[in-house]
Amino acid sequence: MSPPSIKKILISDSVAPECKEVLEKAGIVVEMKTDMTKDELCEKIKGADGLIVRSATKVTADVIEASDCLKIVGRAGTGVDNVDIPSATKKNIVVMNTPGGNTLSAAEHTCFLIGSLARQIPQAHMSMREGRWDRKKFMGNELYGKTLGIIGLGRIGKEVALRMQAFGMTTIGYDPIIDGKTASEFNVEWMELEQLWPKCDYITVHVPLIPQTQNMLCDETFAKCKDGMRVVNVARGGIYEEAAILRALESGKCGGAALDVWEKEPTTNTALVQHPNVIAVPHLGANTREGQRRCAIEIAEQIVDWVNGKGLVGA
Ligand code: NAD
Ligand code: MLT
Repeated sequence: MSPPSIKKILISDSVAPECKEVLEKAGIVVEMKTDMTKDELCEKIKGADGLIVRSATKVTADVIEASDCLKIVGRAGTGVDNVDIPSATKKNIVVMNTPGGNTLSAAEHTCFLIGSLARQIPQAHMSMREGRWDRKKFMGNELYGKTLGIIGLGRIGKEVALRMQAFGMTTIGYDPIIDGKTASEFNVEWMELEQLWPKCDYITVHVPLIPQTQNMLCDETFAKCKDGMRVVNVARGGIYEEAAILRALESGKCGGAALDVWEKEPTTNTALVQHPNVIAVPHLGANTREGQRRCAIEIAEQIVDWVNGKGLVGA
């Protein structure tokens, strides 16, 4: 693919300022406008050779159709599920991401949520705010000796495993493309999902949302799990079926759920958000200064490298 001519780039989400700086240094004109409606974006996209987004902007077929010289959609982050890739491909538009830029942020966030589930830290904090001193209610569990099931042993899954092993957790996992030998190199015992479900005290997913992973945790799979097991999702809403989580919380099958991502964002699922055993956060996995800075610089440098004929990067 020959290097493109990229003169103007539109940034439509709150991408860290370093992105604009790197692009401008390379002589590219950058316009930053966030919180646009679909119609505003369809208007603004005209004349832009590139569009850089995080997850808020939905780069739909209509947006791609409205563009007149778009050559690249850059995602400052990992998942490209907010970009209509088939429509982009039809118009020869490259879709590029920064797959490793926020790995550590998302992995650390997952670990904090596992710890928060074990000790109900957010709930205890809220109760103190309400004037209570409730030591009995917040009896926790040690993580030591517990089993963490990690579904998806890619970049984030591996980093979560390494960190949680420091607490003495046994880490088991499943991934269709990571074999047992590779998993054992980072001390994860690989097993099929059918073997994994009944063994876990905690389950965390680090997979893309695709037909094979949608509603992976549902009534049927909850039934195979230990009573009182806890779940974390810092990957994508929809991998766990929200209605099934609520049913499992109410029956006691699930002892707690920490949810960073939601079937619909912003979520309107107040039953889950308000549930006493739910820790709810608004898609904060990648929200660190370090992670955002890395993604912002990486996406800008990858575009500049492509313009300068150094090839294409992304996953
Ligand atoms: P990755 O590509 O490195 O790893 C994903 C792994 O999932 C791969 O190894 C793949 O083989 C595996 N996988 C695919 N289908 C599977 C299946 N059916 N069962 C089990 N494993 C399967 O991706 P990553 O960088 O580790 O990111 C994981 C997820 O986290 C993505 O969905 C990404 O969008 C999301 N993410 C969320 C945040 C956040 O802010 N909450 C931040 C970064 C990434
Ligand atoms: C990602 O896939 O990188 C994320 O969900 C993080 C984000 O951009 O907020």
